[in-house]
Amino acid sequence: MAGTIILTGANSSLGTPAVEHLIQNYGDYTAILTVRDASDADVNTNRLRQVISQYPRAKAYIYALDLSSLSATHAFTREIASEITNGRYPRLSAIICNAYYWNLVGDPELTADGFDKTMQVNHISHASLVLQLLGSFGIDGRIILLSSDSRWPGKNPMEKYPPSIPDDLSLLVRPDVDDDKQGRGYQRYATSKLAIVTWMYALNRYLQKDPNLNKVTTVAINPGNMVDSRALRSNTPISMHRMQTWVYKPLLPLLQLMTPTLRSAAPAGVDVIELAISPTYAGQQGFFTLLQKDESSPESNNEVKQESLWKQTLQWAQVTQENTALRTTFK
Ligand SMILES: NC(=O)c1ccc[n+]([C@@H]2O[C@H](COP(=O)([O-])OP(=O)(O)OC[C@H]3O[C@@H](n4cnc5c(N)ncnc54)[C@H](OP(=O)(O)O)[C@@H]3O)[C@@H](O)[C@H]2O)c1
Repeated sequence: MAGTIILTGANSSLGTPAVEHLIQNYGDYTAILTVRDASDADVNTNRLRQVISQYPRAKAYIYALDLSSLSATHAFTREIASEITNGRYPRLSAIICNAYYWNLVGDPELTADGFDKTMQVNHISHASLVLQLLGSFGIDGRIILLSSDSRWPGKNPMEKYPPSIPDDLSLLVRPDVDDDKQGRGYQRYATSKLAIVTWMYALNRYLQKDPNLNKVTTVAINPGNMVDSRALRSNTPISMHRMQTWVYKPLLPLLQLMTPTLRSAAPAGVDVIELAISPTYAGQQGFFTLLQKDESSPESNNEVKQESLWKQTLQWAQVTQENTALRTTFK
């Protein structure tokens, strides 16, 4: 039986076409779609609803989930786990951690949980969601983490300060403040995308060692830089809005000749669904650029860093042996 797919940030530039591809091509699956604001006031959620409404047989359900709140994330995972246990939804086939946050025009923001918002939305809450829902998978499953070329120092022209995983991990959740809002905001984003990938390697190791979960595998994907994404207009300087309108979108065919990973959001959404469901990618793990296996980055391959970030993430995400099915990490 086709299972349940959870997609966070389902009303995003990548998310909405991903949902349409899922409904059109894998209609047997149940889609649990999370959005930060599920109200009718949210134009992007309304657009998502419109897409779903074109397919009356779609098994797609929208949930509000603010990933900047750990209590909201824990409440959501408890609710979904219970709906799967009581048979309302089939067991999980995939979790796609797609939502993200950045702020290139402001100082670091601390959430009510006391963490930098960029790190909490992009890494900590997704880790919490994944770990708490492992017991809701069927016999196998896939976890897809959205990363970016920003994870690898020097790969993205927006980088001014390289991302890194410091020895003092508290700096990831309480970063220093200085006057360079754009440069530091981008660094916080890039660091969160590096953190996700670094954490993925430890997650795969612990999953493989667990006899009940060793058919669940995790992939991190750089979906390419999406010239029509609203990311370029969210918490960004006006110069980026202009670049999107006057350069990236109209000149895409030309720019692609130099940078083939530049594209629009719709094909990226298709790729992410294929990675999560298609038999072609069954059992895959590790890093992908678009749909090709790729190197992640030198730092993300450092096993000492992977392990220290893994342990720290369990604490940040408030995951204990009481709320995850993963046994191997608590031995
Ligand atoms: N855009 C690119 O060029 C690019 C390049 C490489 C990688 N990626 C990755 O691809 C993924 C999708 O990117 P995109 O361009 O489609 O993003 P996007 O259109 O900017 O959408 C971002 C999504 O994240 C959600 N979000 C933000 N804060 C949230 C919170 N506190 N709780 C829950 N959801 C929250 C947003 O909801 P609201 O609108 O309601 O806040 C929205 O659904 C991201 O993980 C991104 O890092 C993107």
